[in-house]
Amino acid sequence: MKILIVGGNGTIGKKVSQHFSEKHEVITGGRDSGDVIVDITDSKSIKAMFETIGKVDAVVCAAGEAKWAEFSSMTEEDFYIGLKSKLMGQVNLVRIGKDYINPGGSFTLSAGILADHPVALTTSAAMVGGAIHSFVKAVSLELENSIRINVVSSGLVEDAVDKYEAYFPGHNPIPMKKVVNGFVKSVQGKGNGEIIRMYDNC
Ligand SMILES: NC(=O)c1ccc[n+]([C@@H]2O[C@H](COP(=O)([O-])OP(=O)(O)OC[C@H]3O[C@@H](n4cnc5c(N)ncnc54)[C@H](OP(=O)(O)O)[C@@H]3O)[C@@H](O)[C@H]2O)c1
Repeated sequence: MKILIVGGNGTIGKKVSQHFSEKHEVITGGRDSGDVIVDITDSKSIKAMFETIGKVDAVVCAAGEAKWAEFSSMTEEDFYIGLKSKLMGQVNLVRIGKDYINPGGSFTLSAGILADHPVALTTSAAMVGGAIHSFVKAVSLELENSIRINVVSSGLVEDAVDKYEAYFPGHNPIPMKKVVNGFVKSVQGKGNGEIIRMYDNC
């Protein structure tokens, strides 16, 4: 398979890229890093990326940002960061990418545990995560040519513990192998419209 992994050099993306590179052709994308340069907040950049790389069998997104801050300090502009990047960035990847994906191909987006179990400071990140879950369920009903779409929603991953542990009291970090398997299940399984939750019930 020819697999595009946007965010393929990030904390999660690099482990996902390493895994799929063993048996597949992987193209990584990012704003400053990767085989192809793309900014998912910009539709023209997404279109230019697909024109450069051509048709693919799978699109994986392990990218997307949202502002973490106290709700009382969040401005309207602060919320637009998550809406433009993590939410519409991924929606536009599907909206534009559907014309560049081979029949039977798949999209795999990223959300996270916050959609179901938010912690303090995450009104924006949790909100867009929930929206991505709903988007995936809805758009899976309409994608043509047997193209599937799923979303991987992981808990705090082991490789990001140093950065985020303080925000997740009592959470059990998710082993990287388990997170990678969420992406494998989406890309190589037959599921469609699934929210692949990679965390214990908490
Ligand atoms: N870390 C966790 O524990 C965890 C858990 C659940 C869900 N998630 C979610 O999973 C996703 C990846 O998390 P991560 O921890 O791996 O993040 P990360 O380490 O910050 O990596 C993100 C990657 O995405 C790329 N990227 C960021 N913004 C982009 C944009 N606008 N256009 C194109 N590429 C962009 C970055 O590369 P460039 O800088 O080169 O663009 C980077 O390679 C995020 O949406 C995150 O919220 C993370």
